[in-house]
Amino acid sequence: MTEPRKILVTSALPYANGSIHLGHMVEYIQTDIWVRFQKMRGNQAIYVCADDAHGSAIMLRAEKEGISSEQLIDNVRAEHTTDFADFLVDFDNYYSTHSEENRVLSGSIYTKLREAGHIGTRPVTQYFDPEKQMFLADRFIKGTCPKCGAEDQYGDNCESCGATYSPTELKNPKSAISGATPVLKESLHYFFKLPNFDAMLKQWTRSGALQESVANKIAEWLDAGLQEWDISRDAPYFGFEIPDAPGKYFYVWLDAPIGYMASFQNLCARRPELDFDAYWNKNSTAELYHFIGKDIVNFHALFWPAMLEGAGYRKPTALNVHGYLTVNGQKMSKSRGTFIKARTYLDHLSPEYLRYYYAAKLGRGVDDLDLNLEDFVQKVNSDLVGKVVNIASRCAGFIHKGNAGKLVADNAAPELFADFKAAAPSVADAFENRDFARAMREIMALADRANAWIADKAPWALAKQEGKQAEVQAVCAAGVNLFRQLVIFLKPVLPSLAAAAEGFLNVAPLTWADHETLLADHQLNPFNPLMTRIEPAKIDAMIAASKEDLAAQNTAPAVQGNGELTKEPLAAEIAFDTFAAVDLRIALIEKAEFVEGADKLLRLTLDIGDAKRNVFSGIKSAYPDPSKLEGRLTLYVANLAARKMKFGVSEGMVLAAGPGGEEIYLLSPDSGAKPGQRVK
Ligand code: MSP
Ligand code: ZN
Repeated sequence: MTEPRKILVTSALPYANGSIHLGHMVEYIQTDIWVRFQKMRGNQAIYVCADDAHGSAIMLRAEKEGISSEQLIDNVRAEHTTDFADFLVDFDNYYSTHSEENRVLSGSIYTKLREAGHIGTRPVTQYFDPEKQMFLADRFIKGTCPKCGAEDQYGDNCESCGATYSPTELKNPKSAISGATPVLKESLHYFFKLPNFDAMLKQWTRSGALQESVANKIAEWLDAGLQEWDISRDAPYFGFEIPDAPGKYFYVWLDAPIGYMASFQNLCARRPELDFDAYWNKNSTAELYHFIGKDIVNFHALFWPAMLEGAGYRKPTALNVHGYLTVNGQKMSKSRGTFIKARTYLDHLSPEYLRYYYAAKLGRGVDDLDLNLEDFVQKVNSDLVGKVVNIASRCAGFIHKGNAGKLVADNAAPELFADFKAAAPSVADAFENRDFARAMREIMALADRANAWIADKAPWALAKQEGKQAEVQAVCAAGVNLFRQLVIFLKPVLPSLAAAAEGFLNVAPLTWADHETLLADHQLNPFNPLMTRIEPAKIDAMIAASKEDLAAQNTAPAVQGNGELTKEPLAAEIAFDTFAAVDLRIALIEKAEFVEGADKLLRLTLDIGDAKRNVFSGIKSAYPDPSKLEGRLTLYVANLAARKMKFGVSEGMVLAAGPGGEEIYLLSPDSGAKPGQRVK
């Protein structure tokens, strides 16, 4: 027997200011499958992650919500943890970068870098918000594009003409936080001297640690020449203060990857058999893998290995980079309802459907992968329900009826069983190399062979003939054993189906090596359906609910996601006829009530003169006491197509303005207007 490998695995740390969506899930599912595979093989694989909790976006969002940053990140961490658990992502530890371990490690890595001469300082002049008393990152400055004159553009690039520039070139700059005119101000910044690591990085990035296309991309950056990296931010900032520089904080991307170490260290305190140094010291023989998306390669392939090297730690064995998720061939879209949150998916569908579909789509490369919802339904139903589960359900009944659930010793398909065994090394190789698509193809080809063999033996026909009972039992025993082999191969992808199968098979948790053995003379437990088909209606409901999330988000605080500000540029010009096509009416709010299970919606019953209308509106945050709306007049879009939502059909829309939260203002006509009158 070979020594078990020591393998430490991470997924990127999701930002603590937004919900997990199906794009994120590509990464966490991919990593989880790989780790589960390693564990089944008997290796010591440890999977750690954490929330990425620092930065000005988190601080500003907490402020908007009127809670402390600590409270915000606690809330979000609780949400992330349940989302991941419900997708069967089995972290050994899920921590936070805002932890004592991370503070100490970040400080000590910084100090080691400084002592080795890798830190420098120099003054930087930047825009400063005199009202908020804070320096403004480029994305928090807006103004008029210096090239084309488009208004309301961000501080570093124009979305209208595509120009890039420095914020000081913007005309009429404004702070996107307070609206104040920013002033230029100088401050001392701390820099990590990345160019000191040029030779090491040129070597390391070509050492096999990166996929080839990633290595090529990095080579372009290396050829262009490395720049010193600004690692400090001035107060106010939610993060760690730099040990020898009061009032200066580590930039979030400095302590974020150190969060991998901190999460592992936190786990070591609970698991005495794990030795932190054995995994991280310079001569460690343990393997270290970071699973990441292609957008954050520079942080992991340049800054991170340089920091580790400079502070005397080992470097990653490899980065496993994946591409981006598209849905139905397009970027996830809030208006199409394809920006699907993890929770919205889970409200409608079982996690293993998506785990299987992603596995079937994931190769070794960095190509984007597409969740085509029609293909998703078709593939899951045909492969998992139609092929795999079908084998067990076809055979179990005969064993229970004809032999009291006892699987006989006589196996009618020894050659097929041997073929499955012979296929295992190739399937294992595909898992090991993250070519899950190939693994799934090979497993389904085996399932096809098992089904064809059973169809040929037709135990259901044999069962009707005199004296064929022994043959029926031998065929079904073979079928159950083939099913068991397939379940072993699929277990990294489908852990809960595997657990249910283990229950039916009446066996201990299956390991990879178990595929070499046969069940014979063995008592089975009653068979319950292991998986049901996806009903297409569930997909429609999920899309409709994602649109409802959107309605809610339109009235959410202005700072969202990765610190992006929601912008409202002027919409394209329309002709008068287009405007006239909108049928605006005066409506009387007869009833306004909460909607069970909806965080942001109110249900309004409108009197529009000759008829009543039911409308769901995402205005609850501004009208916590909906009864106050009753009896009020407002404006109503009467000819908007009705929309099916999770809670019922919404017939049209009422009009309101404002950034969201408590600041939503329902529009009202002057007094004297009558329900049903048309707005012209
Ligand atoms: N906080 C940083 C990572 C710090 S790691 C020290 C971050 N967070 S993130 O929440 O924006 O993204 C987390 C991971 O999810 C990243 O690896 C990112 O590439 C991945 N994805 C986010 N959206 C994605 C898709 N639409 N598709 C596939 N992966 C995506 O980056
Ligand atoms: Zn422009």
